[in-house]
This record gives sequence, C-alpha cells and structure tokens, in this order.
Amino acid sequence: MVTSSLLSLSFFLISFSFLPVQTILSSSTDAFVFGGCTQQKYTPDSPYESNLNSLLTSLVNSATYSSYNNFTIMASSPQDVVYGLYQCRGDLSMPDCATCVARAVSQTGSLCPSACGGAVQLEGCYVKYDNATFLGVEDKNVVTKKCGPSVEYEKESDIVGRRDAMMAGLMGGGGLFRVGGSGEVQGLAQCVGDLSLAECQDCLSAAIQRLKTECGAGTYGDMYLGKCYARFSTSGSRDNDHYYPKSHNDKSNMDGEKTFAIIIGLLAGIALLIIFLAFLRTVVDRNGK
Ligand SMILES: *[C@@H]1O[C@H](CO)[C@@H](O)[C@H](O)[C@H]1NC(C)=O
Ligand SMILES: *[C@@H]1O[C@H](CO)[C@@H](O)[C@H](O)[C@H]1NC(C)=O
Repeated sequence: MVTSSLLSLSFFLISFSFLPVQTILSSSTDAFVFGGCTQQKYTPDSPYESNLNSLLTSLVNSATYSSYNNFTIMASSPQDVVYGLYQCRGDLSMPDCATCVARAVSQTGSLCPSACGGAVQLEGCYVKYDNATFLGVEDKNVVTKKCGPSVEYEKESDIVGRRDAMMAGLMGGGGLFRVGGSGEVQGLAQCVGDLSLAECQDCLSAAIQRLKTECGAGTYGDMYLGKCYARFSTSGSRDNDHYYPKSHNDKSNMDGEKTFAIIIGLLAGIALLIIFLAFLRTVVDRNGK
C-alpha cells in the first residue's frame, strides 16, 4: 500500500516536471514578423485607454481556450469603442497560443505607445486592434513579403515542380489553416478567423498567386496580406527551419527538455525512496525491540 502510493507520488512528480516543456517549445513561435500602428493617438487616462486595456486583457484571456476570437468594447460615446482580434497559427496548442498572444499584446504596447490602433504578427500569432472596425472585412493588401535567393540551377526544375505542386495543394486545401509538402519542400497558409471560408479561399488564392509570381524560383517565400498569409520553404533555406510544425529543430530541443525533465523526476523519486527506506528502518528497528 505504502509502496504503491509512493510509486504514484513519484509518477506525479515525473509528470509534474514535464510541465515547463510546453512553455519552452513556444519560444520558436515568438519571432517578430511585422508590426504597425495608426498615426492617431488617444489621450492618456481617457475612457479609450481603459477600454483598450480591457480589450487587450480579453484577447490574452481568450487565447487560453480558443485559437481565434474577436472583441468589441462598447462605450457610451462612439469614439471610445475599441475593436480587436487575435489569431493563432492552427497547429499551436492552447498554452502556446496564450503565450504567443500575451507576447504579441505586450509588443504592441512597446511598438505603439498611445496609438489608437496597432497590429503585430509573430511567427505563431497575430493581434490587431483599432477604433475603426475591421472585423469581418477582407483585406488582400500586401503587408509584408520576403523572398529567398534563387534555387541552384541543377536543383531548379525538381524543386520548383515540387513547390508548385505543394502550393496547388495549399490552394485546394480548404479551412483556415493549411499545411502542405513534405521533406525538402514545405508550405503553410493561415487566414484570420473573422473571414468566411469563401473569403479565406479568395485571400489565399491571391497570396499564393503573388508568392509564385513574386518569389519566382526562390528557396523560400513569405507573403503576408491583410487577412491571410502563405509561406513556403525548401530545406536549409532559412536560418531556422522551425517556422514549420514538427521540424527537426523543435523536436531535438524538446527531446533535450524531456530528458532533463525525466532526470529531475527520477531524482525526486530516488530521494523519496531513500526517505521511505529510512522510515521503514526505523519502523523495523522499533518492532525489533
Ligand atoms: C479614431 O480615433 C481618432 C483619434 O481620436 C479619430 O480622429 C478618428 O475619427 C477615430 N475613428 C473612429 C472610426 O472613431
Ligand atoms: C465576433 O465574435 C462574436 C462573438 O463571439 C461572433 O458571434 C462573431 O461572429 C464574431 N465576428 C467575426 C467577424 O468574427
């Protein structure tokens, strides 16, 4: 009885020590992609400021249970109304989504002090707020794009062919979050959740089309439009391959963390076992007398 409860206690300790693993994993989703602010500023200590603060708090709280949400903070005077949303990349777990949104919100604070509106895109999530509504409005304007250097000549036809096939797959994928390709050629696409599926399809068609024409034979390409983005990568073409879900970098990093967590758990278990044995000895000693 004592032994079995001791065992379950050390199992509890082992699983408890796994907890920090997930927050460490999220570091790869924190990388900054772009950010922007409106010209207009609000007055410090105004009702707008307190509404904005409650909006940002709502975004961060909501990201603990949903990968997308929108909020409108109503006010008695129309100029104090604030609109906002966030969207996590579709493969993020809830804790990673919450961490990412919290980080993006804090970055809007440092990037856009007292601006009425702001937006930040990190690798793993997007956050935007404004005093004019943009919720449910499609936006295909290019916000930022990045193309890698040209693929080496001898690899070109193979890579370009596989990349085009992968992008056709993304185009036909359906859904707000899409991944495609495998091995050397990978891609992903994401819409902001306020778009309908038809609007998402329209936005992604535009992004993928632009990616093909503008990033041509590049080794990688990123096309961020107002409400969606599409990206592709060929292996080794970026400094960090952890843009993509389940990449090698993330996995080896996680394995290291797991090993560490297991060792800590085992040490805790051994320490408890020693205490238990010492306790048994005193009991046995006492009975022996
Ligand atoms: C947003 O706020 C700015 C500055 O207070 C103001 O000039 C602008 O009219 C507001 N826009 C809306 C839609 O309320
Ligand atoms: C905003 O959120 C509300 C409540 O969750 C939802 O009913 C509405 O459809 C959302 N609007 C958009 C544009 O996503």
